[in-house]
Amino acid sequence: VAFFAPKHLQGKRVVITAGPTFEPIDPVRGITNLSSGKMGFALARAAANSGADVTLIAGPTALDTPWGIAREDVQTAQQMHDAALAAAAHADVFIGVAAVADWRVAQVRTSKIKKTADGAPPTLEFVENPDILATIAALPDGPYCVGFAAESDDLDANASAKRLRKNVPLLIGNLGPATFGRDDNEVALYDAQGVTRLPRADKTALANTLIEQIARRLPGGLFS
Ligand code: C5P
Repeated sequence: VAFFAPKHLQGKRVVITAGPTFEPIDPVRGITNLSSGKMGFALARAAANSGADVTLIAGPTALDTPWGIAREDVQTAQQMHDAALAAAAHADVFIGVAAVADWRVAQVRTSKIKKTADGAPPTLEFVENPDILATIAALPDGPYCVGFAAESDDLDANASAKRLRKNVPLLIGNLGPATFGRDDNEVALYDAQGVTRLPRADKTALANTLIEQIARRLPGGLFS
């Protein structure tokens, strides 16, 4: 199929974040989430199949690197932020698919936290992580930015508000978190024109549709 794919993104540089992040607590523990990375990796494959030069910045996942893609593995949101920002400076398109931890542990312990004799549980303090997508969307002359949102309810209102808050031209929303780890997904596209709903589909098929929808919207792109 890849062989016949239309080259909608020929010569474009695309940066994609995917998977969860892992925020350490101490040398043996940390906080993460249920993102599998499947949607981001499917988008990376679809973008490469349509001719793009793809950099995939991945949190911890069990997925194989798609053929022909430059992959950079990271653990924390801060590492993902630094890698994404460096790559996005030279990109035409940035797609933030990663489920980035909103907070990290303020003081990561250098030694394993031990149980104490009095049985008192430890207390963790958190600090907010940088918003990678919003930071890249605010770059002057930055790439065309696409965000994702998993919402448990009121998808239309929440996704539209998130698109405006992060100041991205396109946001892809799914009614989650039921999508996490699945091989299919049902999404809607939110842009300045409104909402476009796509039928439930396999993540690979969906990724091809989304890449075409993104290419269609690029300034000076194949469809403009
Ligand atoms: O705010 P929320 O996490 O729901 O937004 C989701 C979108 O923002 C996704 O595209 C995600 O990759 C991106 N994001 C980010 N950095 C964060 C939090 C979310 O890039 N710290």
